[in-house]
Amino acid sequence: MLAKRYPYYLANRAVAANADLEVFDKYSGKRATRVALADAAAVRKAIVAAHKAREAMAAFPPDARRDVLEHCVRRFGERFEELAQALCIEAGKPIKDARGEVTRLIDTFRIAAGEATRIGGEIVELQISPRTRGYRGMVKRVPIGVCSFITPFNFPLNLVAHKVAPAIAAGCPFVLKPAAKTPIGALIIAQVLAETDLPKGAFSVLACSNEDAAQLVEDERVALLSFTGGLVGWELKARAGRKKVTLELGGNAACIVDADPGASLDHVVERLVFGAYYQSGQSCISVQRIYAHADIHDKLRRKLKAAVAKLRMGDPRDEKTFIGPMIDVDAAKRIEGWIAAARKAGAKRLAGGERVGNMLPATLLENLPHDTDLYRKEAFAPVALLEPFDDFEDALKRVNDSDFGLQAGVFTGSLAHAMRAWDRLDVGGVIVGDVPSFRVDNMPYGGTKQSGLGREGVRYAIEDMTEPRLLVIRDP
Ligand code: SIN
Repeated sequence: MLAKRYPYYLANRAVAANADLEVFDKYSGKRATRVALADAAAVRKAIVAAHKAREAMAAFPPDARRDVLEHCVRRFGERFEELAQALCIEAGKPIKDARGEVTRLIDTFRIAAGEATRIGGEIVELQISPRTRGYRGMVKRVPIGVCSFITPFNFPLNLVAHKVAPAIAAGCPFVLKPAAKTPIGALIIAQVLAETDLPKGAFSVLACSNEDAAQLVEDERVALLSFTGGLVGWELKARAGRKKVTLELGGNAACIVDADPGASLDHVVERLVFGAYYQSGQSCISVQRIYAHADIHDKLRRKLKAAVAKLRMGDPRDEKTFIGPMIDVDAAKRIEGWIAAARKAGAKRLAGGERVGNMLPATLLENLPHDTDLYRKEAFAPVALLEPFDDFEDALKRVNDSDFGLQAGVFTGSLAHAMRAWDRLDVGGVIVGDVPSFRVDNMPYGGTKQSGLGREGVRYAIEDMTEPRLLVIRDP
C-alpha cells in the first residue's frame, strides 16, 4: 500500500532529497518506507516561499479556495483505503479506527470548503454621539499571513487537516512539519494539494529534525504557530516572539457516571470502553479517570471489568483487533512503569496484563492514589481508573483536580446535574450523555490550564488565522 519512498513538498513541489527518514510499521517493527528529510536550508526556503505567497494567497478568491478543498474531499474519497492502510501501518492504528480517521479527514476538508465562502465581517455602529455622526464602520477579516504547523503522531491525517484546511479556507500560506514517526498521512495530503492551482509557495510539508524545525517557531516572518503535541508546546510559545500561538497539548480526561446515568449501564460501558481504549488510548481526550456514583459503582465495575478483559489485542490490520500497538516501546515502557508504581502505591488492577514490546493490554485500575503519575499526568495509553463517589459536587471537584482541562464526559439523567457540570467543569468542552472522547470536527476544540491555548474546529481555527481589518467611511 505504501510507496517505496515519499518526497517532501517545498513551495507546492515534490522534492526527492537525499537524506532519508525511515518509517516503520508499528506492529511488525519492520521498515515500511522512506521519506525525504528536509534540512535547515529547505525549511528556510519554505518560509521564504510562503512569505512571498502571502499576497497571492490573500488574493486567491474564496470560491477558488473552496474548489481546492473540494478537490481534496474528492481525492481523499478516491484514495480512502490507501489512506486507511497507510495509517494502519505508520501509526499502528487498528484498521477500523484508521477508516474512521479518514472519514473525519474528509469531514474536516468538507467543513472548510463550506467555510471558505462564509468568512464574513460586521457592521460597527460608530454613531454613538454627536461627535461621530456621519461615520460608518465595518470590519472584514483578512488572512494573518504565514502559518507554521507542527503535528503529532496520533492522528496523522485529521490533526494535519485541522491546520491545513482552515489555512486554505482563510487564505494563509503555511509550512507544516508532520510527526517524524508518522509523516505519510501529511505527505499524501500534500501530494493531493500539489494537484491544485494553489498559488506558488502556498504550502510546504516537510519532515525535518526538531532542530531544523526551530525556524518554524522562531522566524519573525511567521505570523502564527499552531502546535499539537506534548507540554513542550509551552516552551515553544516562550520562543515564538511576537507571533500568535495556538496550542493543543492533551489532557487526562475524566468521565462521571451519575446515580442515574440517563442510559443503560450496558450502553455506558460500551462508550467507556471505546473512550478509554480506542487506538490504545493515544488520544488527548481518551478517558483516563472514571468516577462512578456509589449506587451504580459495583454493577458498573463488574460490567466494565468483563468488557475490558474481552478486548482483542493484536495486528491492527485484522478487522477484529481493538487494541493495536502503542507508537513505540518507550511509550509502552513508560506506562508499564507508571502502572507498576501505582500498584506499589496501593492500586488494584481489575483488568490488564503484561507488556510485550510496544503492545500493552487494556488496563483498568481502582484504588489509585491521587499523587501517582497515572492519576495526575496524561497517560496517552490504554489505561483507565475507576473510582466511586457519593456526591455529584464532589465528583465535579475531582474532575477539576487536574492540571489539564480539555474535555470531560458526564452520563446523567438529571438536567440540573448536566447544567451544573457545564457551569463548573474547568474544561474546553463538556459532553453530556457520552464520553469526553467524542469529537465532531466543526466543534470548538481546545483546553484550559495546561491543555493549551485557543481552539481548533475549522471555524475557530479560521478566526485565529485571520485578523479584523476596519474600514471607516465618513459621509461628508
Ligand atoms: C487529540 O488527540 O487531541 C485529537 C482527538 C480527536 O480529534 O478525536
